[in-house]
Amino acid sequence: MAITTCIFDAYGTLFDVAAAARTAAAEPGQDALAKCWPQIAQDWRLRQLHYSWLRTIMQDHVDFWCITQDALDWALEAQGIDDAALRERLLALYWQLESYPEVPQMLAALNTAGLDTAILSNGTPEMLGAAVTSAGIGVMLDDVLSIETCGIFKPARAVYDMVGDRFACAPGEVLFVTSNGWDAAGAAAYGFNVAWVNRDGAPVERLPGRPAHVLADLGGIPALAGL
Ligand code: LAC
Repeated sequence: MAITTCIFDAYGTLFDVAAAARTAAAEPGQDALAKCWPQIAQDWRLRQLHYSWLRTIMQDHVDFWCITQDALDWALEAQGIDDAALRERLLALYWQLESYPEVPQMLAALNTAGLDTAILSNGTPEMLGAAVTSAGIGVMLDDVLSIETCGIFKPARAVYDMVGDRFACAPGEVLFVTSNGWDAAGAAAYGFNVAWVNRDGAPVERLPGRPAHVLADLGGIPALAGL
């Protein structure tokens, strides 16, 4: 079945989630952060993901912005950092994360070829809108889909249903692109053609659903979409 629709995870896939801590650590007066920013970036991301899944199991949904703040608070406390101004700076940077360098060219190729393109993310509409605007990629996307529409986080099947609802396409027509192994598993189990962008060479997740393609970056996506 030919690919008609390319769907992208946002955080970690199009946008570099480590950029907030890395950028803040390079700013004047951030000596404490400069020593531990990689650990903070890692803890922030992992807690963010864990909280999304745990709150789903606990049936106590709050949006991804709330979870992102809770996760940062855990990560800062774990490093003994109590600095309200730094907290605000890191959170502000999360609204303007850098996109990976190959993103604009890759999206432009898909868009020019007439494929439908969209983000499908746990992020809130406001967070995603800000990141898309900051990265200047809005004109190359047909839509930005937030899980807040269905009120449950990935990898719930209800989230992947949003793609067919929006673009009237079968799962087999969708190329789903994510850097998250767990999202790759969920989307593959759902029936999408999945490209896992495995920048760090991580082992494949031992979950139902295996990605059809594994790439080191996003440069090969147009070819996988049939271009
Ligand atoms: C996203 C995160 C979880 O949904 O990567 O964008």
